Amino acid sequence: MTDNLDGVRDHYRATGLTERLKAALAAFGPEQQRLAPPQLAGLDQFHTRGLAATADLAKLAGITAEMSVLDIGSGVGGPARFLAATCGCRVTGVDLSEPFVEAARYLTERTGQGGQVSFQAGSALQLPFEDASFDVALLQHVAMNIADRAKLYREIRRVLKVGGKFATFDVVLNTGEPHYPVPWARTPATSFLLTAAATREAIEPAGFRAIVWQDDSELAKAWVAQLRASSPPPSPNLGVVMGPEFAELAANLGRNLLEGRLGILTAVFEAT
Ligand SMILES: C[S@@+](CC[C@H](N)C(=O)[O-])C[C@H]1O[C@@H](n2cnc3c(N)ncnc32)[C@H](O)[C@@H]1O
Repeated sequence: MTDNLDGVRDHYRATGLTERLKAALAAFGPEQQRLAPPQLAGLDQFHTRGLAATADLAKLAGITAEMSVLDIGSGVGGPARFLAATCGCRVTGVDLSEPFVEAARYLTERTGQGGQVSFQAGSALQLPFEDASFDVALLQHVAMNIADRAKLYREIRRVLKVGGKFATFDVVLNTGEPHYPVPWARTPATSFLLTAAATREAIEPAGFRAIVWQDDSELAKAWVAQLRASSPPPSPNLGVVMGPEFAELAANLGRNLLEGRLGILTAVFEAT
């Protein structure tokens, strides 16, 4: 399987995203009014279980104020802003999608966190950073867009210091074929799912030792069941980022989780 970076970029192209965000955020007050990072959680945490999942992962990775954190596939920057606000650390985000990077910078201006959080465009397969630059690397719901996992995990190991932590939170393949479209791929052409066991087999040879290994599928199913039982999410939500079809993409993810086709893996590795 070969990577399809153009296809993935297309999936997250999000034309006019920053303008859409500006319009949607008018609901919170005038443009010059500073926003608190949790206010954006409905639209800037682009993964299963939203903000709660980011908070759990930060705790498991032991992120503290003096650490330098890299968020790989940082999306519109919600996890980076949340970590900086709650842990006090510096966070750098890197993402393949230029519109997402522009939107992440805009939202970070709105929360006034520009001194602590920054974003740049780039590929996880060729990270634009020196060796041993970071204490922690985060990868939340990104690996399923990447075919060359050996290269991905080697790159992550390269930019981490010895003893640094790699925290990953990902969708994994269980049994059967997923229903498409899903939030990371409209078709299988940009989806490169692995089982949890195959994920571990790809990570460890890059120079990592597992210190946390959790199957969080049941937690994710409970979250889906709760969403299904409640009314549609209040605006603004991820529909602003991905467009009106996001409801269908999210519904398919829920169905795949409930049917056991897909699962959720949380893991933390130490760089050896
Ligand atoms: C489902 S979103 C998750 C965003 C963010 N991690 C979060 O949890 O809010 C997946 C993100 O991964 C990015 N991505 C996918 N493949 C990538 C690659 N090869 N290099 C860098 N970013 C990538 C996409 O552009 C998108 O922003």
